[in-house]
Amino acid sequence: MAANLSAPTLLQLEKSARAAIKSAYAPYSKYRVGAAVLGASGKIYSGCNVENASFGLCNCAERTAIFTAIAAGEQSVDAIVVYTPTRTPAAPCGACRQVIREFGPDSLVISICDSAKRLTATLPALLPAAFGPEDLIRKATASVPPGKSR
Ligand code: THU
Repeated sequence: MAANLSAPTLLQLEKSARAAIKSAYAPYSKYRVGAAVLGASGKIYSGCNVENASFGLCNCAERTAIFTAIAAGEQSVDAIVVYTPTRTPAAPCGACRQVIREFGPDSLVISICDSAKRLTATLPALLPAAFGPEDLIRKATASVPPGKSR
């Protein structure tokens, strides 16, 4: 849970997110991003942005970190720290917010940079009235045509 994030854990997340930009593959935008997530097990996973000559295939650091956590067996994430080597912090893009919604609907989302400025928010604040897995279940039930059995 976001509320249980201790100061030492937050520091570790920040350290991991900063370290992750070393691996960033951003030859097109030159905009490097590092991210670190706290898995439900308490382990930390990091990721960087990975771009592609086919620009639409670029993967953000947040999604790399989350997919790494899920691929390692985590069921969910509780917090994510995003680092950019800039003077102001950058909030996660819309696509990443939706992916955070899938695996950490109550996550704490913190953006840090090379100044003391930071953004701290919860995922519900960043993506209000979000679409999620529960909606698919409701929609599947509601979409049975009249006269048909379920
Ligand atoms: N990027 C991220 O890694 N995270 C975001 O939330 C926004 C954008 C990356 C994608 C691309 O490699 C570069 O930043 C420029 O958009």
